[in-house]
Amino acid sequence: MSNKIYPVDAAYAAQTRITRAQYEALYAESVADPEGFWSRIAQRLDWIRPFTQVKDVSFAVEDFRIRWFADGALNVSANCLDRHLASRGDKTAIVFEGDDPADSRRITYRELHAEVCRAANLLRNLGIGKGDRVAIYLPMIPEAAVAMLACARIGAVHSVVFGGFSPDSLAGRIADSQCKLVITADEGLRGGKKVPLKANVDEALTRPGTTSVETVLVVRRTGAPIAMQTPRDRWWAALVAEQAAECAPEAVNAEDPLFILYTSGSTGKPKGVLHTSGGYLTYVSYTHECVFDLREDDVYWCTADVGWVTGHSYVVYGPLANGATTLMFEGVPNWPDISRFWQVVDKHQVTIFYTAPTAIRALMREGEEPVRRTSRQSIRLLGTVGEPINPEAWEWYHRVVGDGRCPIVDTWWQTETGGALITPLPGAIDAKPGSATLPFFGVKPAIVDTNGAVQEGACEGNLILTDSWPGQMRTVYGDHERFIDTYFRTYPGAYFTGDGARRDADGYYWITGRVDDVINVSGHRIGTAEVESALVAHPKVAEAAVVGCPHDLKGQGIYAYVTLKAGENGSEELRKELVQWVRKEIGPIASPDYLQWAPGLPKTRSGKIMRRILRKIAENATDQLGDTSTLADPGVVQNLVEQRLIRA
Ligand code: WT7
Repeated sequence: MSNKIYPVDAAYAAQTRITRAQYEALYAESVADPEGFWSRIAQRLDWIRPFTQVKDVSFAVEDFRIRWFADGALNVSANCLDRHLASRGDKTAIVFEGDDPADSRRITYRELHAEVCRAANLLRNLGIGKGDRVAIYLPMIPEAAVAMLACARIGAVHSVVFGGFSPDSLAGRIADSQCKLVITADEGLRGGKKVPLKANVDEALTRPGTTSVETVLVVRRTGAPIAMQTPRDRWWAALVAEQAAECAPEAVNAEDPLFILYTSGSTGKPKGVLHTSGGYLTYVSYTHECVFDLREDDVYWCTADVGWVTGHSYVVYGPLANGATTLMFEGVPNWPDISRFWQVVDKHQVTIFYTAPTAIRALMREGEEPVRRTSRQSIRLLGTVGEPINPEAWEWYHRVVGDGRCPIVDTWWQTETGGALITPLPGAIDAKPGSATLPFFGVKPAIVDTNGAVQEGACEGNLILTDSWPGQMRTVYGDHERFIDTYFRTYPGAYFTGDGARRDADGYYWITGRVDDVINVSGHRIGTAEVESALVAHPKVAEAAVVGCPHDLKGQGIYAYVTLKAGENGSEELRKELVQWVRKEIGPIASPDYLQWAPGLPKTRSGKIMRRILRKIAENATDQLGDTSTLADPGVVQNLVEQRLIRA
């Protein structure tokens, strides 16, 4: 933790959109009169049918509802495209920077509008209508944004699946929401390496539960030869080109679903987080404008993949709703060389740069020279998201990347929250490295102890939100009970974030990390239960327990304890095989960093694994194991401590 304060730069404050005094006045208004506040803010969108109702929310489980602008109707794609045509038709909507530095192009709002209309007509012609689910399994190419907006145009619900997920993970997501159509590419391209997307789709569609898929649209990306199954598989480009460049946007109710995005929870399979249309777009466009202090001539770059919520809210929907220029990058930070991010910044004169702490730490390890050899003079604002940023990385980002000139916004939020909830506004709020600072308008955080008692003043505990905001998720797709159980039962009357937090004497929030069985690996969520079930699916594994552990680059790593079946040997070869197995079952992001053989796991007499002890062993905090006397066999702990894999 750092006690250093970086005050808002006076020159910056003089020309900002929101000053400290304005922040305070607006915040006070937003919590005193949320209806008045949000009904004014929602006027930033074009409504086909204006709303008269604003907020209709109860977090009480017996009378539960979350509805915003419920009697209004709009179209999300028209808000992101059509309404900009008159004033911004020739403005660049998307700057595409390919994996190969020689491959880049710009797409204007007019061109994007035409392409989205064609794609929307195609989807309609293929029998996709309002409420139908469409899976999108694409690389970071403009077609991903086009596909999302085309769904939005006809009221279809997209479910984007990150291209790094395995065929099984893709199949599970397709099956859960019964998608009728999949949009994919022949192959993806990242850091010069090819990702067999179409082959993964083919494999996924052999899995049970996926027969809902009628059509697979294939974008040609690398031109690699791939198998096309007739009549199921069709080429995207040929069909899109045949369509009319006009498509009347479907009027959808504010509370109609816009998308489903699967995210890991502490138990069971990933949850389909469902976001709706009116509140979500209001929230992401307004936060995008305020948090990044957006200007008409900004070139805005968020490095997230559209497979994650950051890509939805702050690569596609927020920026396009605001008529901004958004950069989509297909590649990785260290290819062809370690200066790539900054070369892209200079090439496209990026003014706002938003990335994850894990990327900053990885680049920091390579030293200052690869950054210093680029100009970066165009950048005026930096942002981070995804996990707590350690103060050393914050300082380096500020001093080296931003040359000490640029404010940093550390934005705390979640897939579930739709947009940023605790975040500085760059011209208003002094920064403290490692703190996400203060709540955004309308957001009411509180810190509770484990009994649910709300703490006052400087304190530490679990982070809850005591009132709704328009960007909040509305349900877990197909399982509303799970939604209520997961988020609203632990602390009655409030949304439980799953995060721990500290509040200091200035009211600043410091997120301390997940307090549930979710691991945050490089800013991506992995459920321990998912990794465990992948491990026990291996024929040689009897039992597995997975916890998070400290990791210099990833923030948290994955630490697995594995008990083999009788007669099996814990060899180095089998260890590698199991790591590969998890990669194949879930995807590379879920690969265990450490895999320890466990002759036995610490269990209570009722058979519950005591993860608290396993976490401490994985952290090398073996002096903090606590009371082990309630274990069925306290002896197993000694062996695990002796064989632990992290010792420093
Ligand atoms: C979890 C949500 C928000 C989009 C990307 C991740 C952690 C996120 C911060 C931050 C500290 C952060 C939390 C949260 N987190 N941003 N600025 N400071 N922690 O979305 O995959 O849903 O993960 O990421 O633990 O609960 P996600």
